[in-house]
Amino acid sequence: MQKVNHHAAEAVTSTISQKSGGASGIPECMPPIRRRTFKVIIDCDPGIDDALALMLAAASPELEILGITIVSGNVPARMGAGNARKVLKQLNRLDIPIYIGEEKPLKVKYVDASDTHGRDGLGESFLPEVPGDFPQKHAVEFLEEMLEKEKLSIIALGPMTNLARLFQKRPDLIGRVERLVSMGGSFKSHGNCSPVAEYNYWCDPDAAAVCFEKFAEAGRKIEMVGLDVTRKIVLTPDILSYMKRLDPETGEFIRKITGFYLDFHWEYEKIIGCVINDPLAVAYFIDGTLCSGFDCFTVVETEGICRGQTVADAMNFWKKEPNSHILTETDTKAFMYFFLSRVLCRKGGGKWRREELSWLENLSRG
Ligand code: BDR
Ligand code: CA
Repeated sequence: MQKVNHHAAEAVTSTISQKSGGASGIPECMPPIRRRTFKVIIDCDPGIDDALALMLAAASPELEILGITIVSGNVPARMGAGNARKVLKQLNRLDIPIYIGEEKPLKVKYVDASDTHGRDGLGESFLPEVPGDFPQKHAVEFLEEMLEKEKLSIIALGPMTNLARLFQKRPDLIGRVERLVSMGGSFKSHGNCSPVAEYNYWCDPDAAAVCFEKFAEAGRKIEMVGLDVTRKIVLTPDILSYMKRLDPETGEFIRKITGFYLDFHWEYEKIIGCVINDPLAVAYFIDGTLCSGFDCFTVVETEGICRGQTVADAMNFWKKEPNSHILTETDTKAFMYFFLSRVLCRKGGGKWRREELSWLENLSRG
């Protein structure tokens, strides 16, 4: 199996000035901007780790976030939209529009993940609701309109129901998707909600199956950031306390929303810390050197005890053109540097340089 790196990071070159409160809304404490910015829509189900992923995305000048589309997953779509707004408020980025999408999976009964993410989806932090209406436009309609207008990428952090609806209706628009990076599935790692299935694909297996099928038909690949890599990304109490030392406000926000998640991980997995899946998909989107993997043809099982399992033909038994790029390795330490240097702000502005985050050297390399 040949390991390949897709989308190796472009040279980090600062070409655009980062004025505090400037047109981009990106504050001064953010890291350098790459030569190219990528237009993205983030499809998600916030969700604790979705919240962290949104924080990372909003702090990354390489991304122009055209909108956030919400799907039912960890919590029902409407609650997820409210959570996205709570995160955007914390980031002072309420300018990013949020569109509510599909409330139910394509065929199976909807099962939320409030056992993992808490009754409010944000670790029972019960942050105050941010008042205001959401646009009337449905998330799928928004995706369709934006793709008609211009090429863009999609970072999918929840069940793929919105995307399946879109590609069922408009398979032609797959050609307008520059990249589809999906947090979901698993190649060799065990599942997190059945022995073989990861939650996003298990929650709506038919939607995931449709997306992989449609990408196969279009001769395109979904970049699958599955549990093989994401379960290596563990936010520990040590890292949390380090974050609070560096940036008390952001650190406290993250501590508030992750406490419940830490308890869950101890109870069910005997891990001190919590696995933060979704931010790795955002980080990998920006810097392809953070993960590596291989291309193959993948199908998603929709029924029975293997519901939601990603069956990846790594040995090419089926002699089919790859419709997926499966990530299998990640550099956990490099990810943590990436994550902290972007998400944390420092007093007086400026960005955290790698050498200033030297305490992270205490992490063992995963
Ligand atoms: C995925 O499922 C959700 O609970 C998380 O937000 C993540 O997207 C991990 O299996
Ligand atoms: Ca998610």
